[in-house]
Amino acid sequence: MCGIVGYIGNSKASPILINGLLKLEYRGYDSAGIATIENNNISVLKNKGRVKEIQNMKEINYLESNIGIAHTRWATHGKPSRENAHPHLDNSKTFAVVHNGIIENHEELTTFLKNAGYNFLSETDTEVIPNLIHYYYSKEENNSKDRFVNAVRKAILDLKGSYAIEVLSSLESDRIIVARKDSPLVIGINGDEKYIASDIPAILEYTNNIYILNDGDLVEITNKAMTFYDENFKIIEKTPELITWDAKAADKNGYEDFMLKEIYEQPTSIRETIGTRLRPNEKCDFSEINISKEYLSGISRIYIVACGTAMYAGLASKAIFERLTSIPVEVDISSEFRYREPLIDENTLIIFISQSGETADTIAALKNAKAHGSKTIAVSNVIGSSITREADFTVYTHAGPEIAVASTKAYTSQITVLALLALHFAEILGSNEKELINNLKNEILELPSKASIVLENTELLKAFAKIIYNEKDLFFIGRGTDYAVSLEASLKLKEISYIHSEAYQSGELKHGPIALIEDDVTVVGFITDRRLVDKSVSNLQEVITRGAKTLLITNQDVSQDVFPNIVNIPKVNHLLSPILSVIPLQLLAYYVSKEKGLDVDKPRNLAKSVTVE
Ligand code: G6P
Repeated sequence: MCGIVGYIGNSKASPILINGLLKLEYRGYDSAGIATIENNNISVLKNKGRVKEIQNMKEINYLESNIGIAHTRWATHGKPSRENAHPHLDNSKTFAVVHNGIIENHEELTTFLKNAGYNFLSETDTEVIPNLIHYYYSKEENNSKDRFVNAVRKAILDLKGSYAIEVLSSLESDRIIVARKDSPLVIGINGDEKYIASDIPAILEYTNNIYILNDGDLVEITNKAMTFYDENFKIIEKTPELITWDAKAADKNGYEDFMLKEIYEQPTSIRETIGTRLRPNEKCDFSEINISKEYLSGISRIYIVACGTAMYAGLASKAIFERLTSIPVEVDISSEFRYREPLIDENTLIIFISQSGETADTIAALKNAKAHGSKTIAVSNVIGSSITREADFTVYTHAGPEIAVASTKAYTSQITVLALLALHFAEILGSNEKELINNLKNEILELPSKASIVLENTELLKAFAKIIYNEKDLFFIGRGTDYAVSLEASLKLKEISYIHSEAYQSGELKHGPIALIEDDVTVVGFITDRRLVDKSVSNLQEVITRGAKTLLITNQDVSQDVFPNIVNIPKVNHLLSPILSVIPLQLLAYYVSKEKGLDVDKPRNLAKSVTVE
């Protein structure tokens, strides 16, 4: 979704702004723009389309200033167009604003400003902000040194909704003012150089020292100083966090696409996520959460709540939690959970999963859960992200930055950390399933090397992609955790190849979907549960009899005579198998997308981080 970049320092701003926007392209957008201050006037270059179009404008060569703001827009109010692209100016062209989020009361503010004589040139909700700032600025005392910051403060007090904003003024051309509420914003610092961004990867190549802003924070940034204000406009001290992600991790590093790189990073991301939480022959170590036996024994239910792939990681982890803790687990979609009045209270533990930690519905669902007195755990990949600041406890995946819109390494890291958490809960509860617990721990430690083995086996998948890339419909089937991974496999294919597909529980086929099976329809099956091999094989045979061609992902002994296309993966307990069995399907979706000549990393209409409802 929308991305923000800003810079103030001793270098030329425009290349840094463009570079930052290119780094944020993965979030998904439809227009882009930058603003700098040249000879005390604001210069804006913006258009619909790619950042490259701004980069190729000849005017950009004339931008010399050391201060600027920039934006990629994902349309919400008003179509993608030059007029609607950010930055937006006030009528007098004194203030330039970029904005992420949604101003819910923009109509009311527009009416107020129109009555005060302001005109509007775009269809966006954002355009009220520079005009409101101008309105308040003109009411401030002429020579007040805080005139600009006071005007921004007054303007944001009028805003309802969510925002991360950057503001430039041609009258005070040595500073940028930024503010946030329910939309992320960070400031990186390297000596006198200050870098602003909505997402850490945009500025990681310049600095690892990052201030993570809280909701309600407002910051006045000049070359020499930064003044942080809290939501009550009180000056506060803040210290930067040291971000340990390597800047190279946000580059393609020789791979054709980020998605392929991230698929191949999984042995590492799983290993890093296990980290020091699990050592041979020791209890799981989750020093970051403080959950007692007394509390766990008293809870009636665990909910796992998330969106998209993160929700599917929750579904894939339900079985291991229930098997190891005997506590019922319900998995729900954040946008449903928040409105359906779930039966939750202080005896419910709720785990919220979000790779970015900024998904609007997940944050809202978390706030709702806390209001009911439930204990909350955030599972996130981004240090200091919004859900981590809202939740009672946070458990980080250590997958490194995930850039491709289609999530891959985050999914396997999320299941890994949830499996470890389930084991940790079992140990707190004093489970007597010692043998199962020990076996699962050993198997988790072997996952990184087994993931590497899966990644070596790509020939059949490439060949199969060539066969199916023009198809219109596909089916994915499995039972138990194999069904959970079918859902994620189906989502991956939809997201990046635009082929419609459905995931079904193998046992449900006869209750409807088998009516759709005819000659040459493709059915992908998963079989990793020893107890269910015969039943699952029969289900696949039923579709073959009706003319389907199949691809089977399995770690069981299944006859090649019946299934000509088998991808064998290493043996692993079915409670953990999604971590390995999803990998061939991530690759298949990738190869199909490439066969179709699509933009794998930036699928149409999708965004990496969905920061609006
Ligand atoms: C978007 C992304 C998905 C992601 C989902 C949840 O739809 O395209 O890849 O799974 O949001 O994102 P989160 O950051 O909350 O895990």
